[in-house]
Amino acid sequence: MNSPEWIIILIGYIMCVLNGAAQSLFAFLLVKIVEAFKYCSTSERHHHVLLTSFLCLLLGVVLFILRLIQYTAFAISGSKLTQRIRSKAFACLLRQEVAYFDRPENSSGAICTRLSTDASAIQEMTGTRLGVLAAEVIHNMRTIKQLSIEKEVLRQYSELIHKLFMHIAASISAAEAFFDLFDRKPTIDNASTEGQELVDFRGEIKFDQVKFIYPTRPTSIILNKLQLNIKPSQHVALVGGSGCGKSTIIQLLERFYDVTSGKILIDGIDIRKLNLQWVRSHFGLVSQEPVLFDLTIAENIAYGLENVSMEDIINATSRADIHQFIEQLPQGYETRVGLKGSFLSGGEKQRIAIARVLIRRPKVLLLDEATSAMDSRNEQIVQEALEQAQREDPSRTSLIIAHRLSTIRSCDLICVLDRGHIVERGTHIELTQRRGAYYKMLAHDNLQ
Ligand SMILES: Nc1ncnc2c1ncn2[C@@H]1O[C@H](COP(=O)(O)OP(=O)(O)OP(=O)(O)O)[C@@H](O)[C@H]1O
Ligand SMILES: [Mg+2]
Repeated sequence: MNSPEWIIILIGYIMCVLNGAAQSLFAFLLVKIVEAFKYCSTSERHHHVLLTSFLCLLLGVVLFILRLIQYTAFAISGSKLTQRIRSKAFACLLRQEVAYFDRPENSSGAICTRLSTDASAIQEMTGTRLGVLAAEVIHNMRTIKQLSIEKEVLRQYSELIHKLFMHIAASISAAEAFFDLFDRKPTIDNASTEGQELVDFRGEIKFDQVKFIYPTRPTSIILNKLQLNIKPSQHVALVGGSGCGKSTIIQLLERFYDVTSGKILIDGIDIRKLNLQWVRSHFGLVSQEPVLFDLTIAENIAYGLENVSMEDIINATSRADIHQFIEQLPQGYETRVGLKGSFLSGGEKQRIAIARVLIRRPKVLLLDEATSAMDSRNEQIVQEALEQAQREDPSRTSLIIAHRLSTIRSCDLICVLDRGHIVERGTHIELTQRRGAYYKMLAHDNLQ
């Protein structure tokens, strides 16, 4: 991975060799001085010693320059290598599937540590620090012999060797970890450009006998023989107790995970055969806990899009019913939202996330209603935003996960989910008349 710097590395090595050669010149000059004392006359000796001393001085300067070049060359190539490893590792990480990050060893903290420490460990293998250590070891070896103080120095010496090997071992294992990452084939490749793109996407979704188990929790079956048909432009709501698998359904549609068995069909085609970017760009997701970046409100809404006018942004925020709120902030659209949007309430965050989705005009709207963020006012606002989104594009399909049943009365189809499969389906009126699970939930909601 250091091949682009081969010239610099070559220079470094040549300097090393010259350095070594120059060292022995010192011995040669020393001998010359001793000889001067032995063989020369007094007048000659003065001249001779002066000249040789001057040559020693000159050699010292040359050595200094050689070392400077050598260290600089290795420092440059080493830091270039670290930089390259870090950016390649980062690119590889971006390609990995969501399940990869579910594993504890790939948590964000662990990954940050790996990117910073492991890459530097590799630099040590190529760079100056190991060189210095090795030089120290060799230097010490000479000292032992010269001074015959073996025991003490031997201890220091073995300590140094131990240190050297520890460094080498750390560098090798760091390098192995990076090569493992570089070679890893993600099960869902975020960077893939392969797969089919539908020209005339209607917005039909079908879950066909879907079974799903999270890879990190192989013992719990989250979705079991799930059968769900959503017709183009239909508005479908999913309801059910906490943990019954509602958000999981949306994650499967965004292809954060692949089904364990069964099929998800989009306009009749298996989602795994479709181009991933195409799928994600046609599904607008507002998640239960929307993630905002530590940028301004306007930047958050236009994130990833090019040439977005302020007009478009305001249009989207008006439709998400958050424009007035933003306007009354002292810095308006230039207000920073803080890390993960922490300067905003949950409901405000979700409305900004709705604006972010609306500006993209997705064919399918996926909305996972925020629970903690909802008071009844917010709930109404979200509902209005949704109805607006449905009005402006009547052919838009939407799948809404509702925690408050009052938001979904007007949906074309309501599905009640329990332990990973649908136990009841129908319109609000049908389901209330049936007096089953939905009816019970409704009564429970009213009680609260
Ligand atoms: N990344 C994950 N790894 C392992 N298990 C998970 C993961 N995400 C969710 N689960 C588990 O899957 C089950 C379904 O989770 P899901 O988020 O779909 O529930 P939900 O119906 O959306 O609940 P809520 O109404 O509380 O949002 C839960 O038992 C949850 O603990
Ligand atoms: Mg959920």
